[in-house]
Amino acid sequence: MATPTSITFFKFIPSTYLILILLSASWKKGYALERKLASENNYHTVHLSSILPSSFCNPPVKGPSRKSSLKVLHRHGPCHQLNQEEFNKPTLSQILSEDQIRVNTIQGRHAFSAATNKIRDSKANLPAKPGTSLGTANYIVTVGLGTPKNDYNLVFDTGSDLTWTQCQPCTRFCYKQQDPIYDPTKSSSYTNISCSSAQCSALTSATGNSPGCSISTCIYGIQYGDQSFSVGFFAKERLTLTQTDAFDGFLFGCGQNNQGLFGNIAGLLGLGRDPLSIVSQTAQKYGKYFSYCLPSKSGSNGHLTFGKGAVPNSVKFTPFARSSSQSNLFYFIDIQGISVGGRQLSISASVFQTGGSIIDSGTVITRLPPAAYSALRTAFRQQMARYKTAPAVSILDTCYDFSGQTTVSVPKISFFFSGNVMVDLDLKGILVAAKASQVCLAFAGNSAATDVGIFGNIQQQTFEVVFDVAGGMLGFAPGGCS
Ligand SMILES: *[C@@H]1O[C@H](CO)[C@@H](O)[C@H](O)[C@H]1NC(C)=O
Repeated sequence: MATPTSITFFKFIPSTYLILILLSASWKKGYALERKLASENNYHTVHLSSILPSSFCNPPVKGPSRKSSLKVLHRHGPCHQLNQEEFNKPTLSQILSEDQIRVNTIQGRHAFSAATNKIRDSKANLPAKPGTSLGTANYIVTVGLGTPKNDYNLVFDTGSDLTWTQCQPCTRFCYKQQDPIYDPTKSSSYTNISCSSAQCSALTSATGNSPGCSISTCIYGIQYGDQSFSVGFFAKERLTLTQTDAFDGFLFGCGQNNQGLFGNIAGLLGLGRDPLSIVSQTAQKYGKYFSYCLPSKSGSNGHLTFGKGAVPNSVKFTPFARSSSQSNLFYFIDIQGISVGGRQLSISASVFQTGGSIIDSGTVITRLPPAAYSALRTAFRQQMARYKTAPAVSILDTCYDFSGQTTVSVPKISFFFSGNVMVDLDLKGILVAAKASQVCLAFAGNSAATDVGIFGNIQQQTFEVVFDVAGGMLGFAPGGCS
């Protein structure tokens, strides 16, 4: 509505003339402003140093303040004290090749499970078992085990179920780990599980392998796509998560023979949806509800929190999708679209539906159906055309040479999930740097349209990611590590 002053003003000037002047001035100004705003809103413009890997730990000002919350660190990040031996740090291409092994395993497991479900009724003989475990995951929490308790650093993994740790007397083999190796003879709360128990039989779905039996003690075995594995006694023990939260009789693997790419981490914390996962085993207290924030490597308040507790109001929820195989494996989600620099890519819905998608805490780089990745790459390359390109790094084929730049402008990338959820990725979820002269788009395409897509952990960084497993919903909110 026009103000009284402007009405008075209009009276004294020929109106068409005035309107023309006003229009052209404000149009020009408004257009330029709009364009500037639009481009600012659609780009991350940052100092180059904030893209490059940091070798300094900026320790979080305060630890997680939430109840039932564990601190989360990046395994290869500078804040992780187990990681001070510089020579142990893998290069980006090593991380990427381990990541590909994990992805192959996930995709193999998913395809196998889908096939199993299809042929179950026909009672066909199944082919050899797939590798069931999942290669390196990258985020670590510390939990207490035993009475009296000792602390162990475990990799946490939403893509697997069984929790295990290396275990004395390491009958066959234990790799080197930082924490003293868990010793059941020093704990008053350790018990073996017997072969005849239902708990022992539950291993089949949790690990993909039938349990073994030794002198009536149940034996678990879980193997990885890259030939890594852990085998040992299936047992019960007191698990302590926080000062106030402990669980008696927690079922876990006491690994007597452990080999592979676990670094110096004591074992694995399985956050999958199988009855043996920690999510299911603590359901009475936490209601199958957990959330985390994966910190970017340079250190911030990463956390893994059990229970509804302090989930921010800003969380937007998308329903978990139903897996085509109806299996308990993995957390399926429904990706509906992607935008780059504020422009929605034209990708037909069937592209995402063909293979389906999961969210995984252990896969680093998000894998997209080939058609979706190709649309993303084309749009990204167009909007990055002013930068010099650089050679590919392993699976990352869209790289730039930023050497000599002080600031860089990168188009924003947003993901759209069913339920009207838009996730506007942090810059850390868009680019990954080998070095200033080789900074790459942090996405890769699957080789087949039917391969399952994976929303990986680089893209999840800094978000509060909420798993309401009982409610069938996945939530996202920005700023989860602050
Ligand atoms: C668990 O079972 C193994 C193998 O049978 C045995 O060596 C070990 O002593 C048992 N531990 C306990 C506490 O019963």
